[in-house]
Amino acid sequence: EARAFRRFRIGTQEIVVLRDGDGVLRGFHNSCRHRGSILCQPESGRLRGKLLVCPYHQWSYALDGELVATSSMREAPDFDKADFPLYPVAVQEWRGGIFVSLLDDPPDLASGFERGSDRIDHWPMESLVVGHRWGKVMQCNWKVFWENFNECLHCPNIHPELCELVPIYGRRISGVRDAPDWQEHADRDDPKYAGGLRAGANSWSSSGQACGPTFPELTPAEISRGQSYFVSLPSVFIACHVDYMRTVRILPTGPEQTEIEVEWLFQPETLARADFDMDDVTGFAKLVMQQDAEASEMNQQGLHARRFEQGVLMPEEHYVRSFQDWVREQTGS
Ligand code: FES
Ligand code: FE
Repeated sequence: EARAFRRFRIGTQEIVVLRDGDGVLRGFHNSCRHRGSILCQPESGRLRGKLLVCPYHQWSYALDGELVATSSMREAPDFDKADFPLYPVAVQEWRGGIFVSLLDDPPDLASGFERGSDRIDHWPMESLVVGHRWGKVMQCNWKVFWENFNECLHCPNIHPELCELVPIYGRRISGVRDAPDWQEHADRDDPKYAGGLRAGANSWSSSGQACGPTFPELTPAEISRGQSYFVSLPSVFIACHVDYMRTVRILPTGPEQTEIEVEWLFQPETLARADFDMDDVTGFAKLVMQQDAEASEMNQQGLHARRFEQGVLMPEEHYVRSFQDWVREQTGS
């Protein structure tokens, strides 16, 4: 809606995103051009008027960021308000989500998704509503979190419940072809070899049952897989199921601290169902994410050993290798 705003942090940076009077999305550093105070104090809401007013000395800004008025009785002759607009940040809208980049030359969002954002086309993301939010602060570096995300060697002992729902994970692999002998099992439809969810289950929930109707555009393959992941490094992954979606935002808050912010997205008619059981849907992923958080923290602690210089990757960890290659590429190291 016009004049709606929300503030949040990217690392140490306070950001405010808002829609101006015409509904155009804008993003700014949440910092006044006078002496740098925070401009927007509430977390989110709707501005009453057409101006953003600094709570410190009441400088006021139009919603496109232009400085409209100071509170001084007299301005110096060489003072020009046009020289003091809010510092803008790049914002992009995609499928009902808002992405913010602090780079002057922001990356193209769609191509930021591994293997293409079009793979998510069959999920009606923009028409879904947020039914539940949950977050967690983990005592680990963000790269430790992503390394853990990228392998399933840890699955049987860290995630017994998940391995029951997704039997191939019980073999410490995430894809059919990760097994050296996969060709010998190529015609078996047992999910332990073929992937997909256990017999009788159709979604990620404690009961294994979907909480609402299947999204109508999904292909038979997307339905039988039961789960699809879309990753945009380094800040988000989206888990897609036949009946709902889950977005996970990964936010480094310190060298050894990472916050995750999770949202569960549903069709409005799913939330309206009399028999809808939120805990059945959200409890399962929370359990898995808690287990991953503990594993990542455990990994982080061990990295402090004075003698530890580097680890070693096994064949099943090829996605960890890809992730490390991506980090090297981004950092030029
Ligand atoms: Fe904002 Fe002074 S710091 S008006
Ligand atoms: Fe895990």
